[in-house]
Amino acid sequence: VDVDPSAYEHGATGAHPRMYTEMLEQPASVERTLRGRLDERFGTAHLGGLGMDPRELRAVQRVKILGCGSAYYAGQMGAQLIEELARVPADAEAASEFRYRDAVIDPDTLYVAVSQSGETVDTLLAVEEIRRKGGRVVGLVNVVGSAIARACDGGIYLHAGPETAVASTKAVTTMFVGFALLALQLGRVRDLSVADGKRLVAGLLRLPGQIEQVLAGGDRLTGVAKTLAAAESMFFVGRVRGYPVAREGAQKLKEISYRHAEAYQMSELKHGPLALISPAVPTVALLPDDELADRNLAALHEIAARGGPLVVVTHEGVDLGELAAERIDVPRNEKELDPLLLTIPLQLLAYHAAVTLGHDVDRPRNLAKSVTVE
Ligand code: G6P
Repeated sequence: VDVDPSAYEHGATGAHPRMYTEMLEQPASVERTLRGRLDERFGTAHLGGLGMDPRELRAVQRVKILGCGSAYYAGQMGAQLIEELARVPADAEAASEFRYRDAVIDPDTLYVAVSQSGETVDTLLAVEEIRRKGGRVVGLVNVVGSAIARACDGGIYLHAGPETAVASTKAVTTMFVGFALLALQLGRVRDLSVADGKRLVAGLLRLPGQIEQVLAGGDRLTGVAKTLAAAESMFFVGRVRGYPVAREGAQKLKEISYRHAEAYQMSELKHGPLALISPAVPTVALLPDDELADRNLAALHEIAARGGPLVVVTHEGVDLGELAAERIDVPRNEKELDPLLLTIPLQLLAYHAAVTLGHDVDRPRNLAKSVTVE
């Protein structure tokens, strides 16, 4: 591609690509998602738009989250939050698959449709099918009054503000926050203690400042992004909380840099993909300092032993020992909230890789912001 990256990054008018501006808006957009919804006294969230009283919230036996693309990955992060905080079985599925498989609709399940635009046809038709069969669906939607928002029984507006770059950034992080609020409320009408509730409320309130901190270090990632841009193929790996983050990171990189990036569970590496590791195939690994850190570190040694270059997104103070790796540190918060802060450097890496390659990051080839037709 014959474009001078520096000319593109700053543009003829001095303007940044919209994706860049939208990434930088994340502290403010997350703050808007939280505004007026946190109850510091009882350590819970108030989500009036759901239209569910405590008795109805308690009656939920299972949560099923449906979305497409980045919204689906945010949904996977959300399902983990709900299981962890509310101890309600939860999972996420691509709405595009769900609607074709004649799924069983269960009256005790709370269905959650997640969408930035509120217009994605696969998600909309899944919602309509569930409601036609008597299921309850709530929406986690950004665009007010959109088709999905109107089709749901109730919901949580994300208030991320307009997002126009194809690669979703601030919508994804506000989706995560929306799920955290839902998990908190579902948890606090069950067994989540007031102390844990307060711990999470305080953690959520710290997020905007911490996102700001990660974004402020963004320019330091250009060197690592160049390494990724030079590779034809790479892995993004994570375990449990890190895995949906890896999927979102790989998606972002593919979308705008057109490099092949595959997300894998750290635990599954030894069951196949290790065969592909070589000095030509870098791995971006999520290594939060949680109860799985030792297991994850061992998996990274397996990659290093095969000469695979490593970029490790981790917390300050995590000892990588002998591991030769590029490290990117994110601030510590409550471990349940780690996925959000781990996501930000991956957005920055994808962005800088695409800019290095001279691509038009806001209008990637073959993709639409919102897929509204079959
Ligand atoms: C398209 C976009 C993705 C987006 C997905 C879901 O495929 O290219 O970036 O994540 O739709 O969009 P939604 O508006 O429903 O969140």
